[in-house]
Amino acid sequence: MKILVTGGAGYIGSVTAKALEDAGHTPVVLDSLLSGPLAFVRDRIFYEGDIADRALVRRIAAEHPDIDATIHMAARIVVPESVEKPYEYYRDNVAKSLELFDELNALGLNRVLFSSSASLYATKETFEVVEEDPLAPASPYARTKRMMEEVLEDMAAATDLRAIVLRYFNPIGSDPDLESGIYAKEPSHVLGQLVMAARGLKDSFTITGVEHPTRDGTGIRDYIHVWDVARAHVRAVEKFDEVIDSVGAPSTVINVGTGEGVTVRELVASFEKVFGRSVPVTEAPPRPGDAVGAYANVDKSAELLGWRSELSLDDAIASALAWGEKRQAILGYE
Ligand SMILES: NC(=O)c1ccc[n+]([C@@H]2O[C@H](COP(=O)([O-])OP(=O)(O)OC[C@H]3O[C@@H](n4cnc5c(N)ncnc54)[C@H](O)[C@@H]3O)[C@@H](O)[C@H]2O)c1
Repeated sequence: MKILVTGGAGYIGSVTAKALEDAGHTPVVLDSLLSGPLAFVRDRIFYEGDIADRALVRRIAAEHPDIDATIHMAARIVVPESVEKPYEYYRDNVAKSLELFDELNALGLNRVLFSSSASLYATKETFEVVEEDPLAPASPYARTKRMMEEVLEDMAAATDLRAIVLRYFNPIGSDPDLESGIYAKEPSHVLGQLVMAARGLKDSFTITGVEHPTRDGTGIRDYIHVWDVARAHVRAVEKFDEVIDSVGAPSTVINVGTGEGVTVRELVASFEKVFGRSVPVTEAPPRPGDAVGAYANVDKSAELLGWRSELSLDDAIASALAWGEKRQAILGYE
């Protein structure tokens, strides 16, 4: 199959492009390089440009009339930045995605997979969330994701567009061949911070929030190896029509997680075990907007995609550490 991957120069997009190739498919990357590095595109078919550039999307379709589906990952993704720059987030993630979907539909490219997020879920007492659970997107970023879920649902109901929304939990780790991974200079998420503390690039790792109603007071997440996330996309494009047929609706939402909740303290313990040394840890109050967290109920992905995560938390941590050693050679900065 040939698959258009918007945001294919990014972290998850580049790993997904690799997984598609591994399964014998051909990714066609569309990315503006707003944040993703050109080095992650490698030798793939690549169009540098904006998802809302309709003429460009038409040119891609004309040059690749055999595109079977689109994986729409291009987005702005930094939560605190979305609080400071709501215009840029709503413009890029909402208005531009809307243009893309309408153009895809006009071109008859009607299979769309959309990258959504577990950050949409409202806090639940058990922390294990199913797709129908109440949502409470807590930031402009999360609201852009929720809005596009609703847009897709409405467009799929009214047109030939068909949509599978994948709600990713917490992707970590890197490409299995260490060709791409986290590229932010100072990663804000927890594992990136741990790797920096472990490599002496910061004094200590700070646990933000130790009085949450979890088993040890720290936030709970569902960390999933990015390679597993990538493989879920391969399944979803391969089984696209089957999934839509079996749900009996023109669009559907599927959690992409491991099904295991891991607290921050548990993550630190696993990290120290894999790293082989302890990491200096300090504790601080939660940051504004910090969520207690959630982990995925994975019944729907198992049933519809025949997919479950295969790699362990330790595998993902080892992969992130290995990428930390390698990334300077690819990115030019530590
Ligand atoms: N990383 C996570 O933890 C996570 C969790 C849940 C959902 N997601 C979603 O997964 C997707 C991929 O995330 P990621 O972590 O790989 O992010 P990323 O920033 O590495 O990748 C996004 C890519 O989109 C490109 N892009 C942005 N705006 C564009 C535009 N208007 N036109 C063309 N290209 C554009 C960027 O240059 C970048 O390469 C995003 O939609 C994100 O919201 C990510």
